[in-house]
Amino acid sequence: MANKDSWFPGSVIYQIYPRSFYDTNNDGIGDLRGIIQKLGYLAGSENSLGVDAIWLSPFYLSPMIDFGYDVADHCAIDPVFGTMDDFDELIEKAHERNIKVILDFIPNHVSDQHKWFREARMSKNSKKRNWFVWRDLREDGAPPSNWLSVFGGSAWEFDATSKQYYLHTFLKQQPDLNWDNPEVRSAMKDIMKFWLNKGVDGFRVDSVCWLSKDEECRDDPINTDFDSRTHSSYDSLDHIYSRDGPKLYAYLSELASVLDQYKDKVIVVEANPNLNKDKGYYLSFYNNVEPHVMAPFNFAVLNMPWDARSVKHYVDTFQAGLRSEYNPIYVLSNHDKSRIVTRLGVSAARTAATLLLTLPGSPFLYYGDEIGMENAAVADDNALDPITGRETYAEAGRDPERTPMQWSNGVNAGFSAVKPWLPIGEKYLQSNVLLEEDDKSSMLNLYKQLISLRRSNEAIHHGRYEPFDAPDQDIFGFQRIVDDEVILVLLNFVGESRVVDIDGDILFSTHPTATTGVLAPNEAQIIKLRGV
Ligand code: NOJ
Repeated sequence: MANKDSWFPGSVIYQIYPRSFYDTNNDGIGDLRGIIQKLGYLAGSENSLGVDAIWLSPFYLSPMIDFGYDVADHCAIDPVFGTMDDFDELIEKAHERNIKVILDFIPNHVSDQHKWFREARMSKNSKKRNWFVWRDLREDGAPPSNWLSVFGGSAWEFDATSKQYYLHTFLKQQPDLNWDNPEVRSAMKDIMKFWLNKGVDGFRVDSVCWLSKDEECRDDPINTDFDSRTHSSYDSLDHIYSRDGPKLYAYLSELASVLDQYKDKVIVVEANPNLNKDKGYYLSFYNNVEPHVMAPFNFAVLNMPWDARSVKHYVDTFQAGLRSEYNPIYVLSNHDKSRIVTRLGVSAARTAATLLLTLPGSPFLYYGDEIGMENAAVADDNALDPITGRETYAEAGRDPERTPMQWSNGVNAGFSAVKPWLPIGEKYLQSNVLLEEDDKSSMLNLYKQLISLRRSNEAIHHGRYEPFDAPDQDIFGFQRIVDDEVILVLLNFVGESRVVDIDGDILFSTHPTATTGVLAPNEAQIIKLRGV
């Protein structure tokens, strides 16, 4: 994977949630033309952020029950986002700026409005019946197994017409495809080819751990560590049968092999360890999927407390397990998780940005984090995310981290001329692109500096990772090394200053003034070591 001839290793990828990026047709919803108009913000102009690629969350035809993760036609653009001509223009204009384009690909389920499912549910004899997972009731009328939906409740929905249940790992409007059926796999591979032939550079593949399940649908055992105060109801079971089944890597290898027929394309998979127990889970995707064009997101740091010891222990161990050709994909936020500033505060968010942009591999940034956007308050009555209020872990749903990009301090933060689909974040007057472009100390300029340093410094861009034992346990330090150049990254995880006895030149600091040998509260420094 970490093939130096490929564009991907070392690249910075920017996630765009199209509904919330920029609205050009004044319907309050972002669109593809909005992305085209804002490409210069991202790369290819003097003052751009400087990212290498964009990942577009789904823009396919969809009833939008799960905001596009319920696809009704994988090869059509939902009119709310524009047309196929807009898409073709987007690819062309992005490539002119040397921005690669990665699409969201959702293989585990479709919308219940997809023609495949509409046909499948017509009768037990339908040709598409076996494209989905149908099972009979138990003798007592109960669902076929105790499997749970990630979004709460049973994963089985009763279909009164055929008197069978169908499986839905997410919403009941998102029936799971039956990946054990070769026709399904073939259809999904054709969809990938459709977009690859249009010139896309890769895919972010949704929810892959559910592609293979126990064909007998045996009951998952109880999770004996379950605590309803801290876990979602889904975690009350240990999902040994309903996910990560025996064919998972074989199916992913089939997807990966599609890319082999093209040049320099990539796949990043969304795979969450069962009950958050990593234990080599991410590594197994590198080790078991052939050809090596696939890497899993690593959500471990995003899901752990912001504590230098834990993060150091995790990253040092994970890096030690990676072969040199494996490309790590660290993530600190996305459209399903609380914003970084909301989780950590502004000061630590600057440290987090430094961490993400100095670690090896290909970091993914979530739109708006670069201007320090925070979760917006979305009143319960206005909540749109279907899982709002369903689960302890996501009581407020995911709307707060999906609000419109804050471009300026103007009407609707410069996102749209009309009322946007979700409210504008309350702090848009302070956190917006226009204002931050002119403020040297802004979050936006911090991200720009880090991305530019990453690009210009070979050690940070492609160097190997070496652990570093900092003199203080509240500091996470690591080295990036290429030939005889050693870059030391020091991150102070606490709100108090710390002394470090280091001899080097400070290339970057999160603070306006930096002093060698001292880390101010929450300061991160990037240091070129002397005399190595
Ligand atoms: C993971 C996606 O990130 C999330 O937004 C979506 O709701 C589920 N998969 C279901 O597709």
